[in-house]
Amino acid sequence: MDLDFTGRIVAITGAATGFGQATARAFARRGAQVFATDKDAAGLAKTANVPGITTHVMDLTDPDAVAAWARGIEAAAGPAQVLVNNAGGVLGRAFHKIEEASLEDWHAILAVNLDAAFLTTRAFAPGMKAAGAGRIVNISSGAGLRASRTGIQAYTSAKHAMIGFTRQMAQELGPHGINVNAVAPGLFAVSPGTRKQWDSYGPEGQQRVIDGLALRRMGEAEDIAKAVLFFASPLSDFVTGQVLPVNGGSF
Ligand SMILES: NC(=O)c1ccc[n+]([C@@H]2O[C@H](COP(=O)([O-])OP(=O)(O)OC[C@H]3O[C@@H](n4cnc5c(N)ncnc54)[C@H](O)[C@@H]3O)[C@@H](O)[C@H]2O)c1
Repeated sequence: MDLDFTGRIVAITGAATGFGQATARAFARRGAQVFATDKDAAGLAKTANVPGITTHVMDLTDPDAVAAWARGIEAAAGPAQVLVNNAGGVLGRAFHKIEEASLEDWHAILAVNLDAAFLTTRAFAPGMKAAGAGRIVNISSGAGLRASRTGIQAYTSAKHAMIGFTRQMAQELGPHGINVNAVAPGLFAVSPGTRKQWDSYGPEGQQRVIDGLALRRMGEAEDIAKAVLFFASPLSDFVTGQVLPVNGGSF
């Protein structure tokens, strides 16, 4: 069984690497017209080596740029039917004890992991409401459900807030035919930052992580793409305001 997204208009953030890249390609391979954005122009160009992906380089923390991206998609193709809020991460920041953590790092991490989803949802919701249908999929984290292995306070706080935002938007937008759900990935070594984190564990530490997963393997970016496809498809017509952990069965 597979899903068909022929002609569906999909907007996705953080598409230069990892989950965003795999998800953009997964939609495009199933016929969607994908609009992919990131601040990393070189990574985004690699993502677009699959037909059906249009790229746009921008900083998602710029409200005017986000609004212009949404209006540009609507002018070119019509309102987006699916929005995937995937951009995020720890931005290369390291753990600091709370008394040494900087407000600048706190704001930077919240801006991309939380504010960006607010800005895109605000920009795309009117088009979805006018169409009476839409799907929004937010990428939170296991760190949205419990503390993070990274220890980074801002990251855990933002990913928890992403789940609150998902639940609130599901209530607000549900009457307009728009479903809003979240995916909570476990640890995946799929992007430069997470590969570095993975390498730092060493062979024994890595084995301990794998032994802690019911399925006894590390996930691939495509495992997250599949969960996003589910939330964007008719299979989840009656599912909204929910969080799906995708983590190989970690405990
Ligand atoms: N990989 C994991 O283990 C893991 C686990 C749980 C959650 N997540 C979340 O999944 C999402 C994707 O993570 P990933 O590991 O695939 O990649 P990642 O975290 O390395 O990258 C996300 C993308 O966001 C982009 N980005 C960052 N700031 C931006 C900005 N201001 N404007 C535009 N783009 C910006 C980056 O350039 C990058 O391409 C993130 O939200 C991350 O927090 C990842």
